[in-house]
Amino acid sequence: MENVERVCEFLDKVGTYYLATAENDQPRVRPFGTSLVYNGRLYIETGKSKSVSKQIAADPKVEICAFDGTKWLRISGELINDDDRAVKVAMLEKMPSLKAMYDPDDGNMQMLYFKNASAVFSSFTEAPETLTF
Ligand SMILES: Cc1cc2nc3c(=O)[nH]c(=O)nc-3n(C[C@H](O)[C@H](O)[C@H](O)COP(=O)(O)O)c2cc1C
Repeated sequence: MENVERVCEFLDKVGTYYLATAENDQPRVRPFGTSLVYNGRLYIETGKSKSVSKQIAADPKVEICAFDGTKWLRISGELINDDDRAVKVAMLEKMPSLKAMYDPDDGNMQMLYFKNASAVFSSFTEAPETLTF
């Protein structure tokens, strides 16, 4: 399995992960649950109207943390906006519950993919494993 698929599978398994952004010198963190592999990239989804989106536009460096009860995952990297309609459609097909809030043509739905990502799987019993994508 590709690195990016392994990371996405972990995010899918936990269901909820935590996305940290920076707002000037103030860290901001919140729960997220969207994830998609498309064209070999790991995407997450948000709304352009949200503060989180504005923070990423100003400073694309983010970190994600997730824990499955045994292992935890930290993904650091940059998030890049992708306005390709097809990737929005793919996200809504994977997670149909999003259709209650987003539409590919609403001018709000935003797909962001990781660039220069480093994903580290850690546990109390095994050496950390770093994947890049
Ligand atoms: C379990 C869970 C999953 C969530 N997943 C997402 C998500 O994938 N994308 C999103 O934009 N908001 C998601 N939210 C809502 C955000 O956490 C919420 O809008 C948050 O306030 C956004 O951060 P901000 O206030 O800094 O903009 C989720 C909330 C919960 C409780």
